[in-house]
Amino acid sequence: MVTKEELMAMINAKIELYNPRGGLSQTAKFFLALIGINHGDTREHCERVALLAEQVARMTKMDAKAAFFAGLLHDTGKLVLPASLFDGHNISAEEYAHVKEHAIAGFRALRGLHAFTALCAGLHHNLYKAGYGLTLEDFPKDWSMATIKKVLEISAVISVCDFIDAYTHRATKILDGSAGSDLRTMLVQKYPDDVLVVDLALLANDEMGL
Ligand SMILES: [Fe+2]
Ligand SMILES: [Fe+2]
Repeated sequence: MVTKEELMAMINAKIELYNPRGGLSQTAKFFLALIGINHGDTREHCERVALLAEQVARMTKMDAKAAFFAGLLHDTGKLVLPASLFDGHNISAEEYAHVKEHAIAGFRALRGLHAFTALCAGLHHNLYKAGYGLTLEDFPKDWSMATIKKVLEISAVISVCDFIDAYTHRATKILDGSAGSDLRTMLVQKYPDDVLVVDLALLANDEMGL
């Protein structure tokens, strides 16, 4: 288990190393600073998801840099929700419905700045469910199928890593309806099309010991 300070240092070093174009470093740093003020351990959660997603992307020959930044910013929309939802209490079903709005809020906040990362944020809780969240209409019309496919692949990695981190670190119960005797069973049920990603993410999570 790494300390908060070690985690922050690892993240800052990687932000510098990747040095993405388009102001993504500054957006990520600003988000982490803001979410670190009063949203419980959401900052550390985002940092761990970024590191895990980066590692899984590397293992599957996806774009590790894109996965890292999408992981860092996936919960951007939590900034517009009350901090009391993240204080560690077991939230009610009503509160959970409110919390779910963060995915689309994150998409809206980021889409004019970082389109790829925005889509990953918007998709990270509803990859295989209809009813809320994004549709193909939300993708820029001039994007190639290859880019759309990349968004969907990286979103799946973020989503799986997010679930693993919430399960292994969060004090509050997972209320999304997943039921199973163990983490892998729950993940396979939830991500039937991404069993390889699930297994690699579980392996990476064990090895990294975040
Ligand atoms: Fe989330
Ligand atoms: Fe998350």
